[in-house]
Amino acid sequence: MKRRAWVIILVLVLLGLAFPLINLIVPVPVRDSFRSLPTASATEAAAKAILEAKCVMCHMQDPGLPWYANLPIASSLIRRHVTDGVAIWDAQRLLEKHGADEVAIAKLEQSVELGTMPILPYLAMHWNATLSTAEQRTLLEWVHEVRRQNFTRGLASPEFAVFPVQPLPPRWPEPLNPRKVELGDKLYHDKRLSGDDTISCASCHDLAKGGTDQRQFSVGVRNQLGSINSPTVFNSGFNLAQFWDGRAKDLADQAGQPVVNPIEMDAKWDDVLAKLAKDETLTAIYREIYGADAAWTAANVQDAIAEFEKGLVTPDSPVDRYLKGDRAALTATEARGLELFKAHSCATCHVGEPMGGRSFEKPHNPAAFFKALGRAPQKDDFGRFNVTQNEADRFKMKVPLLRNLALTFPYLHDGSQTDLRNVVRLMHDHFVPRLNRRPLSDADVDAIVAMLKRNTGTLNGRPL
Ligand code: HEC
Ligand code: HEC
Ligand code: HEC
Repeated sequence: MKRRAWVIILVLVLLGLAFPLINLIVPVPVRDSFRSLPTASATEAAAKAILEAKCVMCHMQDPGLPWYANLPIASSLIRRHVTDGVAIWDAQRLLEKHGADEVAIAKLEQSVELGTMPILPYLAMHWNATLSTAEQRTLLEWVHEVRRQNFTRGLASPEFAVFPVQPLPPRWPEPLNPRKVELGDKLYHDKRLSGDDTISCASCHDLAKGGTDQRQFSVGVRNQLGSINSPTVFNSGFNLAQFWDGRAKDLADQAGQPVVNPIEMDAKWDDVLAKLAKDETLTAIYREIYGADAAWTAANVQDAIAEFEKGLVTPDSPVDRYLKGDRAALTATEARGLELFKAHSCATCHVGEPMGGRSFEKPHNPAAFFKALGRAPQKDDFGRFNVTQNEADRFKMKVPLLRNLALTFPYLHDGSQTDLRNVVRLMHDHFVPRLNRRPLSDADVDAIVAMLKRNTGTLNGRPL
């Protein structure tokens, strides 16, 4: 009896070893759709080879899987890793764009620097799957190459040349039409855009209040209260789409919506346009831009407001000046806050010049996040899902920009937070991927908050 038990154990151990041993010889199958992707440089080709050998099995849609992925227990485990893995980072999509996805590139950098990938269960079965130092270097070289080419303007000092956070450019990167900006400025501040002439865009996005209203929820016509926090208009031209759920594709598209929103400006475009047409001075400026006989149209009003908003870039915060090489711009604590911001994976989602706005993201466990907020989620909290009806998008929000935070309180899409220390804790506990999470001391939180509070820039040369 005893001997039988030993034999069974031995067989199980041999069987258990057989898989990793076979895996040493037989490479993971890779789909042709990945293998045949063209590469743009030698570095990219080298990076692709590494991803192909060690990563795509869990990081592409419909990957090639080894035969044992169909065995009962292995099957569900492996498929879960693939579903989770590709949801958070899609290597095939990244290579199709030759790396030009600022968030995905920052996530790759972070997982390589922290040594989190591949995940442990995979390493148990694939003993040769750890990244060698040379492979790590190659992947980081690709990250830096892509970042230099696509996401920097040579403004940062050499020390921060390939840092994931970059200084804001001094102005909107494309030329703006100054007459349109002037008209857009007037319209943005014009209460005639609301049904009862009481509310302008500036009522909820005050340029003297960081481009927000500094309230949890905005107040529209007839004192109606909204149900989601008003984000800043500053630097909003850098967002990949507008609104927390991204339902407007750009600023012009966005500018049409509050005008007709019943709880915001509650107007009808025909009435608004008729009111504006009676204003001769304004109509003269309008016709200089849109043609001598041009009638007022909603599309042109939106176009002018969008042009004005693009100009609302707020460069030259102390953090920007530090990134550009002015060592005295930040205190030692604030400078440490900036390093910690990268070390704690904040700079993956809050990446680039505006520090966010490049992707939609969700907490890893939405139930736990809303429990921490002390309430049950409602429709507004479904975020991106409300636009796409795609279950994977439920609870995803457009990542907010972390600039001028000293002025844009309260925080989060529900405006529930007034203390940035709390927000940083919530981010660490619910948004930083579990595998990336490192202990975050109170002193670390304070340093990050100190840095964020010093990230207030200038508008047209004047401090905000
Ligand atoms: C066996 C499956 C598996 C393999 C192989 C694997 N990963 Fe992952 N990867 C995952 C899972 C699961 C997650 C989600 C982890 C989490 O939620 O914390 C993930 C997360 C990631 C992320 C997102 C991290 C972030 O900051 O958001 C990146 C980037 C990544 N992996 C890169 C890689 C690279 C590079 C390799 C190859 C060296 C690799 N992975 C190999 C399963 C895998
Ligand atoms: C009654 C308050 C109110 C008024 C008036 C208002 N907004 Fe907003 N604005 C909001 C709220 C609240 C949101 C967020 C709504 C959401 O995401 O669902 C928002 C979102 C935006 C955004 C998106 C920013 C981002 O990061 O996604 C822009 C840009 C913007 N508004 C510009 C304007 C313009 C231009 C006008 C005038 C035509 C205007 N707003 C009028 C409250 C207001
Ligand atoms: C996986 C992506 C992701 C990571 C990682 C992440 N954030 Fe966020 N951050 C978000 C999203 C999405 C929101 C908006 C959440 C909401 O409103 O419900 C947000 C909101 C914030 C806000 C509030 C901004 C405002 O105007 O309301 C701050 C501050 C912030 N994050 C800081 C951090 C810090 C510090 C870290 C690192 C510890 C971090 N974030 C890591 C995605 C991320």
